[in-house]
Amino acid sequence: MSTSQPQPYQLTDNAYPFVPSTAEHNRLEQQCAALNELMLDKPIRAPLKNSQKILDIGCGTGFQTDLLAKMYPNATIIGLDMSPVPDLRPKRDNVIYILGEFNELIEKGHELLQPGTFDLVYQRMLLMGVTSWPQHLESVKSLLKPDGYFESQEMDFWKMYDRDNNLVSQEWHFLDVATRGPAEQGLNLKIAEVLPEHLSQAGFEGVQQEKFPMAFQKGWKERPETEKLAVYLNWACRPWWRRFFEKGAREGEDAEVLYREFERKVVDGEVGVHGLFVATVGRKA
Ligand SMILES: C[S@@+](CC[C@H](N)C(=O)[O-])C[C@H]1O[C@@H](n2cnc3c(N)ncnc32)[C@H](O)[C@@H]1O
Repeated sequence: MSTSQPQPYQLTDNAYPFVPSTAEHNRLEQQCAALNELMLDKPIRAPLKNSQKILDIGCGTGFQTDLLAKMYPNATIIGLDMSPVPDLRPKRDNVIYILGEFNELIEKGHELLQPGTFDLVYQRMLLMGVTSWPQHLESVKSLLKPDGYFESQEMDFWKMYDRDNNLVSQEWHFLDVATRGPAEQGLNLKIAEVLPEHLSQAGFEGVQQEKFPMAFQKGWKERPETEKLAVYLNWACRPWWRRFFEKGAREGEDAEVLYREFERKVVDGEVGVHGLFVATVGRKA
């Protein structure tokens, strides 16, 4: 089934494939608003007290950066992105934007990214922007004050559940195919499931996860908070998933057939499936 909306954004062959444009910014704004609704309008789960400095890595359009600034008016919020943040809203006095790639900025010792200075390092939907989680977490940890928090919020599409939370995807080979191409570029699209282990290995304590059912079809009456995200995912996920299959299909596998199976089973939903949106929080020891 085709979407009623035209392909809204462009993709490249880079590890992080989305091309910044008005259409892409529109996608990110919709995604953020829908995810906040999914999180029952409690978009930050780290138990912060008296924060002075917060970093939003890969801040995109600054949607969450702005929200953080509103939620924590006494803190300085630094939004960092390798693409310029578009001018979509008035910038609050407690927001500073930095343009650049995270690791490069750390390596260069950017003056606003000094070790041991942050109460919270936050990131949302960075799973396609991190090619080495151990290195990434080392950098994050170095930026945090002792007892500072790291919070990562990522989608997990790789296990699917029915409306009664039964796992239904054990035999869905197409899900594995979809992760192959990005894996060759160093990306771990299944990071949400193993992030607690990575955080513990990196020396974080009190690691916790909260999981939010993420549906692809609207009309889940018992879970009204999934509605906005379902509407968004139903158009937005199609181009990027088609690309996953194009990259991941091997000899004897037909990318288009696999993509159609994904559309039928997941997006247009024979069984009304959902994945998970996962907030992972850890404290620097
Ligand atoms: C999927 S978007 C999410 C944006 C925002 N966090 C949100 O939830 O709307 C990922 C963002 O991270 C940025 N990004 C990806 N990898 C990055 C990196 N290594 N350093 C800096 N920014 C990065 C991209 O430019 C993009 O704006």
